Amino acid sequence: MDQDKINKLILDSQEAKEKAYCPYSKFRVGCALITEDGSVFTGCNVENASYGLAICAERTAIVKAISEGHHNIKALVISSDMKNQFIRPCGMCRQFIFEFGKHISIYQTKPDKSYEMETSSELLPKGFGPSDLAAETIS
Ligand code: THU
Repeated sequence: MDQDKINKLILDSQEAKEKAYCPYSKFRVGCALITEDGSVFTGCNVENASYGLAICAERTAIVKAISEGHHNIKALVISSDMKNQFIRPCGMCRQFIFEFGKHISIYQTKPDKSYEMETSSELLPKGFGPSDLAAETIS
């Protein structure tokens, strides 16, 4: 992906972060994803008084894309307020992303717009995915 596109998605994810609903953790996260056809979907984390129901920014963005009929996710960009650390997707989100491709690029950013990119397979090595359900079985 060219640098201009990456920069734009970083801004989109930072803008999405502004919408975070996180009264309990106060940890804002934003995500912007782009599909193979260039469509962009954004998301933020949404928490709940029943703490375990929190949904991460990544899954919010993915659910928005899938529910609009866009399955071919090319890249995701994640933003948080951590000054000195790149934001990493949680384990549940790594699995959720892996469902839609082993080669999705995941840009993990800092507020200064620096980033590290790793693919869905790199973040979830030897992951379980849709192809496993289609594997030959003993019966
Ligand atoms: N969170 C995300 O939205 N994405 C991540 O990559 C890590 C964590 C959210 C979940 C919760 O609302 C808050 O950050 C603190 O864990």
